[in-house]
Amino acid sequence: MKTETVLITGAANGIGRATALAFGREGAQVAVTDKDEQGAAAVAAEIGPRARAFGLDVTDAAAVARVFDEAAAALGPITVVHANAGVSSMKRAVDLTEADWDFNFSINAKGVFLTNQAAVRHFLAHGTKGVIVNTASLAAKVGAPLLTHYSASKFAVIGWTQALAREVAADGIRVNAVCPGFVKTPMQDREAAWEAELLGTTPEAVLQSYIDQTPLGRLETPEDVADVVVFLASDAARFMTGQGINVTGGVYMT
Ligand SMILES: NC(=O)c1ccc[n+]([C@@H]2O[C@H](COP(=O)([O-])OP(=O)(O)OC[C@H]3O[C@@H](n4cnc5c(N)ncnc54)[C@H](O)[C@@H]3O)[C@@H](O)[C@H]2O)c1
Repeated sequence: MKTETVLITGAANGIGRATALAFGREGAQVAVTDKDEQGAAAVAAEIGPRARAFGLDVTDAAAVARVFDEAAAALGPITVVHANAGVSSMKRAVDLTEADWDFNFSINAKGVFLTNQAAVRHFLAHGTKGVIVNTASLAAKVGAPLLTHYSASKFAVIGWTQALAREVAADGIRVNAVCPGFVKTPMQDREAAWEAELLGTTPEAVLQSYIDQTPLGRLETPEDVADVVVFLASDAARFMTGQGINVTGGVYMT
């Protein structure tokens, strides 16, 4: 990965942070981006001099274009993009508001659109056979109760990934997605608390139910996902495109 320059969104916490650190260990140049600029700076400092931090809200098209330019000026042309930023909220479908729907779709679906479009424009401008990895979800493969709006936004990521992969394959650009299961991150802490309240149980019981659904018998770690993102970005995955790779400990198998 020493010759790669990787831009990651939502990299201040959880899966994005683990991916940034994994690419850093591989010797890549890493643009650590997040809406939380201070958090991104802390991750970049952990990686060292080959990393830079950028404040970036993935729903802001102008900011996405600007950060690609700034990151390339600081680190060299971007060759790998991990479009990972995502959010969730949890409610029964009958209680959802338009604001819930728009919040999830604006970051999870539109954020992937804007980041991927900027990536393809950047790759074409530099003649780079680049790689895009999107973070979808287990909820992009099978509908998740209490997360109908989130599930719909993540199914959109799979549709986008497949269609874009077909469109840019002739340019030598690969586009794949990872579909994580129940990952120990700040998002999971929030979801366990919401789910416990909605179901009248405790966050501990909710987390145990996640483990009970997982054949490999534990909660997933951010590093479990990061290692697969690094693989998909590498030449070892050179003949893979348009895939949504399940990284769930066996929760979902097809
Ligand atoms: N945790 C899980 O169990 C799980 C499972 C499947 C998929 N995912 C997906 O993995 C991705 C990362 O999730 P996580 O669990 O690490 O979440 P997290 O909340 O722990 O971290 C997400 C990061 O995204 C950033 N972010 C939020 N809105 C943003 C915006 N508009 N622009 C830029 N950055 C923004 C946050 O500041 C945060 O640092 C998300 O796309 C999520 O949907 C998570």
